[in-house]
Amino acid sequence: MEAEINMSEPKSKQVLLSGMQPSGALHLGNYEGALRNWVDLQNTGKYEMFNCIVDWHALTSGFEKTEMLVPRIYEMAADYIAAGLDPEKTAIFVQSQIKEHAELHLLLSMVIPIPWLERVPSYKEKVESLGLDSYGFLGYPLLQTADIIIYRANVVPVGKDQLPHIELAREVVRRFHYLYGEVFPEPKGLITKFQVLPGTDGQKMSKTYGNFIALGDGPDVLKRKIMSMFTDPAKIHKTDPGHPKDCPVNIYRTIYDAELPADLAEKCAAGDSSIGCVGCKKALLRAIVDYFQDFRIRREELLSDKSQLEGYLESGADRARERAAETMKLVREAMHMYRPSM
Ligand code: TRP
Ligand code: SF4
Repeated sequence: MEAEINMSEPKSKQVLLSGMQPSGALHLGNYEGALRNWVDLQNTGKYEMFNCIVDWHALTSGFEKTEMLVPRIYEMAADYIAAGLDPEKTAIFVQSQIKEHAELHLLLSMVIPIPWLERVPSYKEKVESLGLDSYGFLGYPLLQTADIIIYRANVVPVGKDQLPHIELAREVVRRFHYLYGEVFPEPKGLITKFQVLPGTDGQKMSKTYGNFIALGDGPDVLKRKIMSMFTDPAKIHKTDPGHPKDCPVNIYRTIYDAELPADLAEKCAAGDSSIGCVGCKKALLRAIVDYFQDFRIRREELLSDKSQLEGYLESGADRARERAAETMKLVREAMHMYRPSM
């Protein structure tokens, strides 16, 4: 018996697990959609925080080209920390460093019926769009389940698109408990309320569309990207009425420009000749350069010293490993796995 491990509520704090694939430098869409929220959740002090960079998940669709995986991990970790995730408060770590995820995934793969995985919406969509149907790809959401429950996490901050994955995790937990007894809390999705940020062309911001602004973009890159931004095709002359609600320049300014005049949208819509798209973009440029100034400095500092960055990831992994190892003890015991008696 593992008397020292209390399975029900070992700590007063709820455990929060967040995860993201290492896609390299993060863009404003990633920041507004996830990272800003994680930092806020961390700073409430209400949670024991784990943040997992899910490199194994990245292999499910990116197994052919793997050389960029490690540089992407460094960039992402630097972005996290520069944006305010504090390695002292949040265990930031790389999934593949914690082998317990893989062991739990394997054990769960014995008890999950294949149809549960086949009916996950993202599976069908991606099989069709990527023409890819590997064993690992089918198991993607089950590996995600393992990521979550290996920390006996209570909450998982996610976007709406991830809810079917959280639901699957809850079903797997219930099935595990029915078969072997209680080990895990049923994790809950914590839906991030955020704006889907448009890209510089007005479409959804995405790496693949090449319409993104990276958090680490310096003044020159920002200038190039912002001055060529899509605004409102109906506004050719200053006096043409614009549609500021749909104008990405205006949307960004409402987030990043503390000096945004309260009547700008009104004037734009009225075709007031005192404002125009070029001036609007210049103001946005100044605002964004300024907003991410400290971030950029910190990011450069972190990326110029890999050993410091690795130190943070190591200490995060140590804390993650400790909790994951506790969970695996409980799981192996519940499943009556072999353990030498001496
Ligand atoms: N599937 C998630 C995404 O695409 C990434 C992910 C993997 C994840 N494991 C996780 C997210 C665990 C939260 C918790 O965004
Ligand atoms: Fe957008 Fe500003 Fe141009 Fe209006 S004036 S369309 S808000 S960039």
